[in-house]
Amino acid sequence: MKQDMIVILDMGSTENTVVARQIRALGVYSEIHPHDITPDALKALDNVKGIILNGGENRVVDGVAVEVDPAIYDCGFPVMSIDHPTAKCEQQLSELPDDATMKAFVFDTCKAEANWNMKNFVADQIELVRRQVGDKKVLLALSGGVDSSVVAALLLKAIGQQLVCVHVNHGLMRKNESEDVVEVFKNQLNANLIYVDATDRFLGKLEGVADPEEKRKIIGGEFIRVFEEEARKLEGIDFLGQGTIYPDIIESGTKTAKMVKSHHNVGGLPEDMQFALVEPLLQLFKDEVRACGIELGLPPHMVYRQPFPGPGLGVRCLGAITRDRLEAVRESDAILRDEFAKAGLDKKVWQYFTVVPDFKAVGVRNHERSMGYMVVIRAVNTIDAMTATIERVDYDILEKIADRIAAEVPSVTRVCFELTKKPVATIEFE
Ligand code: XMP
Repeated sequence: MKQDMIVILDMGSTENTVVARQIRALGVYSEIHPHDITPDALKALDNVKGIILNGGENRVVDGVAVEVDPAIYDCGFPVMSIDHPTAKCEQQLSELPDDATMKAFVFDTCKAEANWNMKNFVADQIELVRRQVGDKKVLLALSGGVDSSVVAALLLKAIGQQLVCVHVNHGLMRKNESEDVVEVFKNQLNANLIYVDATDRFLGKLEGVADPEEKRKIIGGEFIRVFEEEARKLEGIDFLGQGTIYPDIIESGTKTAKMVKSHHNVGGLPEDMQFALVEPLLQLFKDEVRACGIELGLPPHMVYRQPFPGPGLGVRCLGAITRDRLEAVRESDAILRDEFAKAGLDKKVWQYFTVVPDFKAVGVRNHERSMGYMVVIRAVNTIDAMTATIERVDYDILEKIADRIAAEVPSVTRVCFELTKKPVATIEFE
């Protein structure tokens, strides 16, 4: 089934995604396209029911107002214009429409049907993937993060054993994280999953490396090499599955907006390894990816995970990584997560974790002076990770966490709670 669509033309607004989300919340699919789309390209899109010209303070570039091809008005679609005086449009607004105005435009003026939902989306994508892939094989790097997990579940439904998943455990995963990926995908969903334990290899390369950016580079580079080695062992792979989602694409920069961040693609696989991409989540915002995962039957703890950096615990074991300190990070993080879940904070707090700096602090253990590590707890809330505030965790909960870490992680003598907002701090410590 093909869903009706409202097309947003980006006339320089910084709020295109806000408008797209508002329309999708009404159950109608919406996509953002550049203002200079040709009338033919617009007509070639499926089931367009209406157009929104979305302007804003960026609408005037170098003194010239951003304009659409005048022939766009003759394509036969109702047009709403936001902050853009145009004689030809059906509706003109000076600011973003409220829900009632948007509803009237979408349903009464454009006559769109509310047929955008996850059930239809999943059915459509399964069909499209089957058509794209045929009887060929798809390779997928399954990290266990939300996006790759949802792609894996979707591709598994679509092509079953033609999907080959590779999970690289770099030794910097949280407690039981890799085991969970194997349990869910291999044991429960019967996926064709190759599990690579590359812990020694990664920790070997990281030995003595204290500079955070150098650590990131080693982890990222080594990840690609391990994945590539696995890919070379396989035969007859034509496609690479990817968990690219909608914000990755629109944040790559539109013609009028400044570049937000570059869209990191296939992750630097060598040029002689050419795969066509299968990217079934390309249209989805993050919360829609989660809804898709639930629709596909993934366990909620996998779908509602807090953000976790690619370099994993590697950037939370501060300075040069050692195995015992990494263990202290992993165990304390598991205790923190357990207690947050018991208190219901896992559903409230955006990101929470522990870090362990590379020095020892004096303490008393078994009536003896003993040197041990210091665990720092961080719990932050944010909308977009650009700024962050501190969660005011109940003191009793903090005390319980501190007691448990001190009792259960023998290498630790101190537990602290960090109070610095972003800025001036960042969320991670390095
Ligand atoms: P900062 O520390 O910059 O973090 O305030 C903002 C958000 O980004 C995550 N983060 C990373 N994610 N690779 C990632 O995939 C990284 O190297 C990385 N560094 C930070 C961080 O966890 C937070 O959610």
